[in-house]
Amino acid sequence: MKGLILSGGKGTRLYPITFNRAKQLVPVANKPVLFRVIEAIKEAGIHDIGIVIGDTGEEIKAAAGTGERWGVNLTYIPQDAPLGLAHAVKISQDFLGDERFVMFLGDNVIQGGISSLIRQFAHSDWNSQVVLTEVDQPQHYGVAELDENGRIKRLIEKPRNPPSNLALVGIYMFDKNVFTAVNSIKPSWRGELEITDAIQWLVENNFAVHPYIHRGWWIDTGKPIDMLEANNRVLAELTHTVDGFVDKDSKVDHLVTVERGAEIINSVIRGPAIIGEEARIVNSYIGPFTSIFHHTVIDSSEIEHSIVLDNTRILGIPSRIEDSIIGREVEITYSPIKPKAFKMTLGDHSKVGLL
Ligand code: DAU
Repeated sequence: MKGLILSGGKGTRLYPITFNRAKQLVPVANKPVLFRVIEAIKEAGIHDIGIVIGDTGEEIKAAAGTGERWGVNLTYIPQDAPLGLAHAVKISQDFLGDERFVMFLGDNVIQGGISSLIRQFAHSDWNSQVVLTEVDQPQHYGVAELDENGRIKRLIEKPRNPPSNLALVGIYMFDKNVFTAVNSIKPSWRGELEITDAIQWLVENNFAVHPYIHRGWWIDTGKPIDMLEANNRVLAELTHTVDGFVDKDSKVDHLVTVERGAEIINSVIRGPAIIGEEARIVNSYIGPFTSIFHHTVIDSSEIEHSIVLDNTRILGIPSRIEDSIIGREVEITYSPIKPKAFKMTLGDHSKVGLL
C-alpha cells in the first residue's frame, strides 16, 4: 500500500498564524501536525508516501525533507490550486499507480491505533474504506447516511440539513477504481472536486465502500480553538520526560516534558505541558495544557492553556495569558513608561483580546 497526504490549501481560518506558513506545520504538543500524520502512516507499515503541496510547498519540503528521519520515502506532488480533495487524488495517479492507498488530510489529528484498520483494508477486497465519527455539528463536514444494515446509503458534503451526525474523518482508503470516480464527477457549488462525491459515485456504481466508525477523538485543526483542543488531547496522552535542566527552586510535576537544552529557573510548571528545546522559563508559572516551542523565553509571566511558537519572548506581563496561540518571534513585554497605554505592532489578521 502507498500513502497520500494532502497538504495544499490556504489555511485562512488560522490567520495570522498561517498567513505565511503552512497550517500543517503548526505544532501540536511541539510536533507539527503533518509529522504526526507521517508517523501514523509509517506505523501502519507504509513507506512510500506522496504529499500534495500548494503555495506553501517549499516550506513543507524544507521541513519534512526526503522522509529519511522516519525511514519513509516522501514524494512531493504539486497542485496548482486547491481545487478539491478529489482533484488532489487525480493529480496523484502517476505516483499511486495501481496500488491500494490510504489518504490522510494533513491538518487532522486523530487518536492513535488506526494502523490495524489500514492493514485490514490492505488485505480486504473492499474498493474503499472510509472512517466516520459522531460529531455535534455535522453540517461542517462530509456526512454519511447508513442503512439499517450499517452500509453506506449516501454521502453529502457539508449538507444544510444533515441526515446523520456521522462525519467523514480525514482518512480514506481506496483501490484504483477511485480514479474512474474522480474523473466522472463534476465540481461542487464551492468549485471543488469533492472526494465525498467521488465516494458517492463508487457507492452508486456498486463498488464496495466499507464504513468504519471511529470511537476515539479526532480533530480537524481548521480553527484556533481546534488547535488548542488538539494540543490538550495530545499533551494529555504524551509520555512525559525531562531532558532539560530544572533548578532546585522550581516545581515541575510528572506530566511535564522538558526538552533537550531547555532551562526552568525558579518557576512552577503544572502539566500536562511541554517546554521546547533551548527554551528558558524564568520566575514564571506555566499552567496545564500549554506547549512552549523551541527557543522561546518566558520571564516573570504566567501562561496557561496556550500554544507559543518558536523564538518568542514574553517578559514581565502582570496578568495571566490564557487560551492563546502566539506565533513565532513575537515579543510581549510590560513597560512602566507613561502614558499608561497598550502599545502594539500587530501584523495583518492578528487578534488581541484586552480586558
Ligand atoms: O476534516 C474532515 C473534512 O475534510 C471532511 O469531513 C470533508 O468531507 C472534506 O471535504 C474535508 O473538508 P474541509 O473543508 O475541512 O477540507 P479542507 O479544505 O480544510 O482541506 C483538508 C486538507 O486537504 C488540508 O490539509 C488542505 C488539503 N487540501 C485541500 C484542498 C481543497 C489540498 O491539499 N488540496 C485541495 O485542493
